[in-house]
Amino acid sequence: MILQRENIPNINQISTELSRIIGDDRSNEIRQFFTYYQQCQAGANEIGTKLDNLDSEFQMRDNHNPIHHMETRMKAPQSLVRKLAKKGYDFNFNAIKDNIFDIAGIRVITNYLNDIDTVEQALTQQTDITVIKRKDYITNPKPSGYRSLHLVVSVPVFRTDGPVDTPVEIQLRTVGMDMWASLEHKLRYKTKVDSAKIEKYGDQLKQYSGELNHIETQMQAIFEDLQEN
Ligand code: GTP
Ligand code: MG
Repeated sequence: MILQRENIPNINQISTELSRIIGDDRSNEIRQFFTYYQQCQAGANEIGTKLDNLDSEFQMRDNHNPIHHMETRMKAPQSLVRKLAKKGYDFNFNAIKDNIFDIAGIRVITNYLNDIDTVEQALTQQTDITVIKRKDYITNPKPSGYRSLHLVVSVPVFRTDGPVDTPVEIQLRTVGMDMWASLEHKLRYKTKVDSAKIEKYGDQLKQYSGELNHIETQMQAIFEDLQEN
């Protein structure tokens, strides 16, 4: 099951918004960009289909779905411009292609911890997939307590003039990790409290991440025991 995390802005909206941010005189660059934007979206569709197909195969073979659900999102133009600026670039098509790999993102929420490894292996061993970047925040959680496996993969998208390799960011996490990350994000960014106030709960939030991990490890052990019987 793939959920769209938010409405994907249509090309006209993006174009209008980008013209407003970077100026009308850059329309050529904007056109080039949204051709790429659409390509990235197609890349996420390709990955989503691959994962869906793998999940069905596991269900048939093992009577177990590794994937609980998936969410896709396209980076909003303002957040793209902000990220470029943070990295020291103006809005520039080449800077985007060379530095921004998460225009299209897909989040894969798995049922159990081991499912993350299962899904990663099954996807990345496919001959048309290349892993560009891999960050394992499960083996090495972030100081905040954040856990997930982040991959950027390249997948060919077949366009009218042939195949083009396209980057897609994939975040793999369990339901427990997803619950923690969603709520922590809301607490950190969405509450109106000042940041010093939330910081005092930092240790507590980190501890909860560890506790959830402990619970998920034990629930996986129960699952494995039941599978054997
Ligand atoms: P960027 O170029 O900024 O994407 O760098 P990066 O990909 O190296 O960043 P990172 O690996 O830190 O991943 C960024 C994404 O991970 C964010 O958009 C969040 O979705 C998620 N993330 C990272 N750290 C945290 C955290 O402490 N809390 C929560 N809730 N999410 C986090
Ligand atoms: Mg990122």
